[in-house]
Amino acid sequence: MTVETFAPGKLILMGEHAVVYGHPALAMAVDRGLHVKLTLRPGPTGLDQPFADDPRLHRALLTVLPATGVCVRIESTLPIGRGMGSSAALAVALARGSLTLEGSDINDAAVNERAFAVERIFHGSPSGIDHTVIMRGGAVLYRRTASDPEFETFALPELPIVVIDSGSAGNTADMVKAVADQRSTNEPYLEQMGALLLSTRAALLGGDIPTIGQAWHENHWLLRAIGVSTPVLDEIVRTAVGAGAAGAKLAGAGGGGVVIALCPEPEPVLEAAAQRGWTAFQVRCAAPREGH
Ligand code: PMV
Repeated sequence: MTVETFAPGKLILMGEHAVVYGHPALAMAVDRGLHVKLTLRPGPTGLDQPFADDPRLHRALLTVLPATGVCVRIESTLPIGRGMGSSAALAVALARGSLTLEGSDINDAAVNERAFAVERIFHGSPSGIDHTVIMRGGAVLYRRTASDPEFETFALPELPIVVIDSGSAGNTADMVKAVADQRSTNEPYLEQMGALLLSTRAALLGGDIPTIGQAWHENHWLLRAIGVSTPVLDEIVRTAVGAGAAGAKLAGAGGGGVVIALCPEPEPVLEAAAQRGWTAFQVRCAAPREGH
């Protein structure tokens, strides 16, 4: 028996890190993602070919699969460990695949429980925004609370987004811990991030590019203030804006990973990135999953 599942990646458009402390964040599923193929066969459960050099990967598989009997193949069009949701896409694809293998009902609660368990292997105590938007597709405004998270699906207009990869990975758990270690110093910046998203909401809904660009610019410098940017990420932001982007920010945990740039004219930004040796590509929002 073979089961194949796919889950999209994601980008956090505004509010990463602040979301850990109960402030709102906005994420969207993207038109790239990750395929998982699970095949029943004798022997220990494991990958049929190397995927990523990450010791957490095997533990992640065994969180939802039996210790023996499953051969796993993973194929991804997402850059790995760059803030585009590769671990959460793996978590959601594995959750759906493992439920299918068992013949269990694939409902949101069951997928959420398994995907969150896998995400905890990778990230410690994540807010849950990544696997939530990946499960649902589209765009999600998310807020962590003391009990269940609150979220609403957001109908975003088409935004001209270019992703620029810094070429290095950040470690989400380490970045979240670094922010937590300076909680009192960082709190005002985190609050400003939450307020900035709420005040940009109408512009996001209306596709008001200059206002969203300015908000991304401010969000990036707030992320810099809490210490999660790097000189390369700052340089990418400056390069993108210098090439005509309306605004740009790091997306995800930082310490490496990607920058997103809002580019009514993508070509000059793609060219400027290529000249500096950074991989850059356009992304679109993935459609909401049926029923969400
Ligand atoms: O590394 P990423 O892109 O999955 O970013 C996680 C987002 C954070 O807000 C930094 C952490 C979290 O759990 O929400």
